[in-house]
Amino acid sequence: MGIDRKLLELANKKEAGRACGGEDRIAKQHAKGKYTARERIEKILDAGSFEEFDLFVTHRCTDFGMENNRPLTDGVVTGYGTINGRLVYIFSQDFTIYGGSLSKAYAEKIVKVMEMAAKTGAPLIGLNDSGGARIQEGVDALAGYTDIFYRNVQYSGVIPQISLILGPCAGGAVYSPSITDFVMMVDKTSYMFLTGPKVVKQVTQEDVTVDQLGGAGIHSSKSGISHFNFENEDIAFENLKKLFSYIPQSNREKVPEVECNDPIDRRDENLNYIIPENPNKPYDMKEILISVLDDNDFFEIQKDYAKNIIIGFGRLNGASIGIIANQPKFLAGVLDNNSSMKAARFVRFCDAFNIPIVVFEDVPGFMPGTVQEYNGIIKNGAKLLYAFAEATVPRITVVTRKAYGGAYCVMNSKHLGADINLAWPTAEIAVMGPDGAVEIIYNKEIKNAEDKTAKTLELKEQYKELFANPYNAAKKGYIDDVIVPANTRMRLIKALKMLQTKKVSSPDKKHGNIPL
Ligand code: HXC
Repeated sequence: MGIDRKLLELANKKEAGRACGGEDRIAKQHAKGKYTARERIEKILDAGSFEEFDLFVTHRCTDFGMENNRPLTDGVVTGYGTINGRLVYIFSQDFTIYGGSLSKAYAEKIVKVMEMAAKTGAPLIGLNDSGGARIQEGVDALAGYTDIFYRNVQYSGVIPQISLILGPCAGGAVYSPSITDFVMMVDKTSYMFLTGPKVVKQVTQEDVTVDQLGGAGIHSSKSGISHFNFENEDIAFENLKKLFSYIPQSNREKVPEVECNDPIDRRDENLNYIIPENPNKPYDMKEILISVLDDNDFFEIQKDYAKNIIIGFGRLNGASIGIIANQPKFLAGVLDNNSSMKAARFVRFCDAFNIPIVVFEDVPGFMPGTVQEYNGIIKNGAKLLYAFAEATVPRITVVTRKAYGGAYCVMNSKHLGADINLAWPTAEIAVMGPDGAVEIIYNKEIKNAEDKTAKTLELKEQYKELFANPYNAAKKGYIDDVIVPANTRMRLIKALKMLQTKKVSSPDKKHGNIPL
């Protein structure tokens, strides 16, 4: 065969490989409001940057007549490219070929990009749209999945791994995304569950729809499996690129800094007045975050889940930081099972990937009651404590109002190794709030008083004077400084600059045993 014919043969094969599962199946995919696997890659990566691997791979199954249909790519498109000039690896499941179901050959393609990502130190993006294990391949498909899970775990904390769920993701297939650092879902077109509605009906007699069982709304508000719920794929891709700007290539690198045109000494007088006079009145912690961060830009994560704690990324003087903040607007900012787990996992992401942590604290304590206790608030609260205590990145806390009880200890206190602890003059740092404290320590005095209400009020005032302030903690060095709220941005930027060269070492160990 002459070179011209060889080139033609190559071009034809590539065309066949890029044709997905044919016009009809592509049309079906579009009719569902979904892009094809290749369109998705084109939209996510910088134009012209995608280099594909393994277009010629086909499955090796010979059962059920499968040998008569071996489409190129085998239903997953894999390779590498760039996002804003930064290298990423990507796999994109192609629902138009065998419903995007996973064969052994298909799994090997994914494993290859995972290994390349780990070797070269670059993030991995997985676009999931699949009917799960390819039924015709039997245990080979299960082996393939497990090969992927194993690498998800091995590379956790080594390279950022991000999953977009853009269609079905069912059965054991859900475990790969759930191990990755961030999961993004699209409303109404994506779903994740271990067993579908039919099996649920058989086993538990429950009637549920796909969306009720594992839609984007459910996973971003109730289960916390998904970090984001987007209206459509285009919005998901935009947010993926934004998220990407806050994270590094790998645990060996820092996040690239961006130019900061927002004055580092910008003051906000409104912050001096944001805390209500009445300590039981809520305010919106997000207003503080937005005020302090560069360009008033806060990228929130898991915004619909455990709203009593806020997590997300922002920048200070162009450097990426992870923020954890109690939200007094929801459940008074109390720590409970879900908020503790939400924050703990985020702290660990930031620590694994060299992103400094800033905590804004206004927490009345841990949520009491049987619901919390039965669901393990002891071990779940301990997760947050553990995550902070083992984090070696620069860590700063700003107490805006309440820092009571165990929650004071847990929320990145000095005693857990925080580097800088600041408080606003409105801070109240004590074992508990005046209401509870007075009832307990002045029980007898109140009982014996003629006017019990007046006595209680008087004692509460006394307690407030004594304890509802930041100065007791500051006197002991637990708080490094009490600052003017308007200056918070500048104080944080200075502290983060000072901490740039922070280096601490932890005791030698294989790994700790976080209370899971
Ligand atoms: C092989 C599959 C497949 C699968 C879909 N297809 N799932 N082929 N293995 N798992 C094929 C269909 O035969 C069909 O082929 C094409 O993909 C499109 O599927 P449709 O059913 O026509 O599409 P739709 O109506 O949109 O329904 C999508 C679906 C459904 C809900 C995902 O296909 C489905 O329920 N699939 C099975 C899901 C499942 O139970 N998977 C196993 C989960 S257990 P044609 O040729 O007709 O176009 C699992 C274990 C993993 O994954 C364990 C890991 C440890």
